[in-house]
Amino acid sequence: MTEPKAQNDLSYDTFAASVQRSRDLEADIQKNPRRHRVLTGDRPTGDLHIGHLFGSLLNRVRLSKLGVDSYIVIADYQVLTDREVFDHISECTLNLATDYIASGLDPDSGNVFIFPHSGVPELNQLLLPFLNLVSIAELERNPTVKEEIEASKMTHMNAGMFTYPVHQAADILFCKATTIPVGKDQLPHIELTRQIARRFNAKYGQINPIFPEPEGLLSAAPTILGLDGSKKMSKSRNNSIPLKATADETAKIVKTAVTDSERLITYEPERRPQVANLLEIASYASGVAPEKIAETIGDGGSGKLKSYLTESLNEFLRPLRARRTELEKDPAYVRRALDSGIAKAREVGEKTLLEVRTAMNMYL
Ligand code: TRP
Repeated sequence: MTEPKAQNDLSYDTFAASVQRSRDLEADIQKNPRRHRVLTGDRPTGDLHIGHLFGSLLNRVRLSKLGVDSYIVIADYQVLTDREVFDHISECTLNLATDYIASGLDPDSGNVFIFPHSGVPELNQLLLPFLNLVSIAELERNPTVKEEIEASKMTHMNAGMFTYPVHQAADILFCKATTIPVGKDQLPHIELTRQIARRFNAKYGQINPIFPEPEGLLSAAPTILGLDGSKKMSKSRNNSIPLKATADETAKIVKTAVTDSERLITYEPERRPQVANLLEIASYASGVAPEKIAETIGDGGSGKLKSYLTESLNEFLRPLRARRTELEKDPAYVRRALDSGIAKAREVGEKTLLEVRTAMNMYL
C-alpha cells in the first residue's frame, strides 16, 4: 500500500516546466537585468575545467556584464558531505576564487560578490528554521542526493548529505536571489528551495511574504563529455582540461582524447559522440560551427581534429590564463575580493535574518 501524499508534497518531476520557465526568465533578464539577482556557486573541490567554463562560467560572466547582481557562493561546508577528510579547504577556496576572477567575474565591478558560505553566519543560521519546513521523506527522494550517495565512497552516510539541499536553499534565499543559473542536476534543489520559500511565506509571511520563489536558469550549452568518452567531464574522472593547464599540457591532454577509427571527420552527435564532443568544444572556443570545422578537417583524421582543437582552445584560453598567472602572483587581491564578498553577503544576510526572526516572533 502506498502512503497517501501529504498536501503540497514536493514532487521533483518538473523538468519540462523548468525548461519553459528558464526560457521566459532569460527573455526578462535581457529586458530588465537590474530586476534580477543571480546566486550560484560550486563546491571548492578542485580546479575548474573547460566543462565548467563553457557549461556555466561564461554564462555567469555574461549575466554579470549585463549588470545583474551576481552572488557567487563557494560552497565549502557542502564539501564535507561526501568525504571523511578535507584538510585543504581554504586553499581550495582561494583557488576557486582565482579561477572565477580569471574567467571574467569581476569583483571590482560593484555587482559581483564572491564568498565562501562558511564566512556568512547569517546565511547558515537560516538552515535552522528551514530544516523544519521539509520532511525527511522529501529529502530521501531527492534524485541528485541519491546519485551522490551511490557515487560516494563513505561507509556511513552522514545527515549533512541528506540536508545539504536545505542548506543550499539558505544559500539562495539569504540574499533573496531570483535567478539560479545551474545545470540540470541542480533542479531538484531549486524545486526544494521554491517549496521552502512558499512554505515559509505561508506560515510566517501571510501579510508580508519574505522570500521570492527563485527560478533555475538552464545554460544553453549542452553538457561537455569527458575526453575519455564518459558522460561528464569531471576532475575526479581525470578526463578534463583544467583552466590553469598550460598550452603544452593542453596539447598533451587533448592527445589522450578517445575518438573512433574513421578517418573522415563528420559531425554526427548520435553515431559518433566522442568526435562530436571534440568538434563542439572546438566550436565553443573558435566560434565556428562544428559542421564547418568537420568540413575543414575532412579526411585529416582525429590527429588533425586534435591539433585544431588544441590550437583553438589555447587561443581562446590565452587571456584567461594570463590573468590567472597575474592573480597567482597577487593572492592578496583574491583575498580582498573574498573579504569584500563576505562583507556584502553578511550585510544582506543580516537584513534577511532580522526579517525572518521578526516574522517568526523570535525574541529580539
Ligand atoms: N550543490 C552545487 C554543486 O554541487 C553547489 C552549490 C551550493 C550551489 N550552493 C548553491 C549551486 C546554490 C547553485 C546555488 O554544484
